[in-house]
Amino acid sequence: MKTKITTVTLNAAIDKTYYVPVLAKGKVIRAEKILSMAGGKGVNVARVLRQLGHSNVAATGFASGYNGQFIIDQVRKIGIESEFVGASGESRLCLNFIDRTDGSSTEVLEPGPEIREEHLVNFKSKLQRLSEESGLVIFSGSIPKGLSSGLYAELIEIARQAGAEVFLDASGEPLVQGLAAKPSFIKPNEDEILPLLAETEKSGGQDLYGGVISLMEKGIPNVVVTLGGEGAVAGAEGKLYRVRIPKLRPVNTVGSGDAFVAGYAYGFIRGWPAPRCLSYAAAAGCANALSQVAGDVRLSDHERILRDVQVEEWHR
Ligand SMILES: Nc1ncnc2c1ncn2[C@@H]1O[C@H](COP(=O)(O)OP(=O)(O)OP(=O)(O)O)[C@@H](O)[C@H]1O
Ligand SMILES: [Mg+2]
Repeated sequence: MKTKITTVTLNAAIDKTYYVPVLAKGKVIRAEKILSMAGGKGVNVARVLRQLGHSNVAATGFASGYNGQFIIDQVRKIGIESEFVGASGESRLCLNFIDRTDGSSTEVLEPGPEIREEHLVNFKSKLQRLSEESGLVIFSGSIPKGLSSGLYAELIEIARQAGAEVFLDASGEPLVQGLAAKPSFIKPNEDEILPLLAETEKSGGQDLYGGVISLMEKGIPNVVVTLGGEGAVAGAEGKLYRVRIPKLRPVNTVGSGDAFVAGYAYGFIRGWPAPRCLSYAAAAGCANALSQVAGDVRLSDHERILRDVQVEEWHR
């Protein structure tokens, strides 16, 4: 298998965090600390892959205007090949105000650039080339406004035709429609799996494992449902697994799903058996929860937590 992993972020952004004494409406507020990070779920996955020690990582999607240039520069600085395509206007700035008094978080999200037909055409040809060079292409996150929610199915087809394996981490309609293209791996969380289940399962007629089995039967070989602090349940190679993680004191769990995807990809591209991919992934999700920044894993945290992750085969 080729070692290159390409991540796709259609909605790349700058995640800017302002730490303020108190978020008082109608007042002048002086920030005590500011953090600016290239973000968007696929960018997070790419960053964690690099942090885990995977060297050959490319990031693509749309990055536009000055904000887009910031994203490209940051991505390059950490050794990720930047393959973003331009669009019309500015990439999103996502503001997050953390109030020191009560720890609350208030977000303001920009709408993002306009993506026109010509941008999409450029992107598809870039995706085609990157997929030819890559063993694995990972699609993460939402689809920008104005584009079809069936887009992932089409993009997965391009990547697969070019010979790459495909992961899809999305939710809602883009996930439902993306399933038709049978990605190799999906990772809904507990909320995201609900729309994928048949009515009987939603009403409690079946457990999560039933949902995992029905998704595997639809032709998705690796299905993981992550459960936040409760670990995950999974199905792979026709077997079911329960993933248990140690108790931690989480600092910020945003991006833990992205870190999980990065960890699974790290093992998958090396041909590891599913239980080993699962424990590596879960430890990455946990390590991310220990960092203030979304999509950020310290290797020492990952190594320590990995020893305490348990994956057992589940017999129904
Ligand atoms: N509170 C927590 N304590 C310990 N580990 C956690 C916690 N939250 C998440 N994790 C780890 O991260 C993994 C993925 O988390 P989660 O199910 O929250 O993903 P998610 O909802 O897709 O997150 P996001 O979309 O914000 O990246 C879990 O399986 C677990 O290994
Ligand atoms: Mg998620």
